Amino acid sequence: MKRNIIVANWKSNKTESEAKIWLDGFNIGGQEFAGKEVIICPSFTLLPMVSSEVKSQKLGIKVGAQNISRFGGGAYTGEVSAKQVREFADFVIIGHSERRKNFAENEEIINEKIAQAIENKLTPIICVSSLEQAKAIKEVVENNFPFIVAYEPLFAIGTGVADTPENADKMATNIKNVLGRTPVLYGGSVISGNVNSFTSMSGIDGVLVGKASLDPLEFAEIIKNA
Ligand code: PGA
Repeated sequence: MKRNIIVANWKSNKTESEAKIWLDGFNIGGQEFAGKEVIICPSFTLLPMVSSEVKSQKLGIKVGAQNISRFGGGAYTGEVSAKQVREFADFVIIGHSERRKNFAENEEIINEKIAQAIENKLTPIICVSSLEQAKAIKEVVENNFPFIVAYEPLFAIGTGVADTPENADKMATNIKNVLGRTPVLYGGSVISGNVNSFTSMSGIDGVLVGKASLDPLEFAEIIKNA
């Protein structure tokens, strides 16, 4: 069955007090999601506070991290392991193009991170910008449901120029042909004004939202229109 999953990727934004303001702002309308699954992914520093506020304010949304260590726990200074993240989150974004580009994350590292997530029962949201990148994760995800894939073309991330819904739908279908019947999201310059053109496509199971998720009212509008 087609899903409608809306993921907020806050990237390296928001202090604790700014995140509290976001949560209060988001809660104002007493959001009704009706079958939509909402996941917010803040920085590591915010995970404990956000996960506890989401529960106490009964926001009805899930929490994800933006990254995990490729290693298990132990002598890896500065890293945060999947097991540590699992205390506060149900999901983790892996393989975002910003990590592939700025932190030299290659297919080997990405596959190690996916394996860590699966082992620790974190559902990975794996970002790919091409069919080749989808093929490169096939072995590690095979028969390891649940996992989510986000198709994010490089030209559309943070540019204000989204892909066409038709092309995103075609890519989502191609990705499912490679990886099996798993949810595939579209990401790249999604806003409240274009979200429905993507979520109404038969092959697309939701969206991953960067910049437009930083404003709680715009994000609420995206959920409403999705
Ligand atoms: P954007 O980012 O919505 O700001 O384009 C999407 C992403 O990087 O996941």
